Amino acid sequence: MKENLKESRYRHSLGVEDMAVRLAATWGADIEKARFAGRYHDIAKNFDQERMDSCVRKYGLPEELIGNNALAHSKVAAAILENEYGVDDEDIINAVRYHTTGRSGMSLLEELIFVADAVEDNRTYNDLKYYQQLAETDLDRACFEILEYTIWYLESKERNIHKDTIEAREWVWKKIKGDN
Ligand SMILES: [Fe+2]
Ligand SMILES: [Fe+2]
Repeated sequence: MKENLKESRYRHSLGVEDMAVRLAATWGADIEKARFAGRYHDIAKNFDQERMDSCVRKYGLPEELIGNNALAHSKVAAAILENEYGVDDEDIINAVRYHTTGRSGMSLLEELIFVADAVEDNRTYNDLKYYQQLAETDLDRACFEILEYTIWYLESKERNIHKDTIEAREWVWKKIKGDN
């Protein structure tokens, strides 16, 4: 992992691992699965364009991922763990696969990796402490607020918002409201 990641990304990965373990303990998820998914979720983050695109083709991933490292790195990481490292736990694979977008119907593990990615200790934004506390007291609410922020941020940069992210926000909002 260290070979493939820049120093800051390596530190972030250990931070997500640590936060995922803490949240798994709080929310009753499998600690070892959370540790593993947290540690390796960004394994492909620092691949250059050429390597990322060749992985997208090699693993038969959707064409829309070509040239889109921000999205591709999570799908490629899941494919590498599945195909090269023999990870056969679907929940771990999905937690890595959807860590960037989220999705409707996320499992507890998926949700806490998504949240841990945003609130790990090495993040530097202003409200970090607030979000960390929220993650410990109301995981769905934390997930919702992170999705809201993500969508707002992408809109402000006039970047595409993946439909999985929109659907995730709708799903978790209904979950909070008790509609599903
Ligand atoms: Fe990532
Ligand atoms: Fe990450």
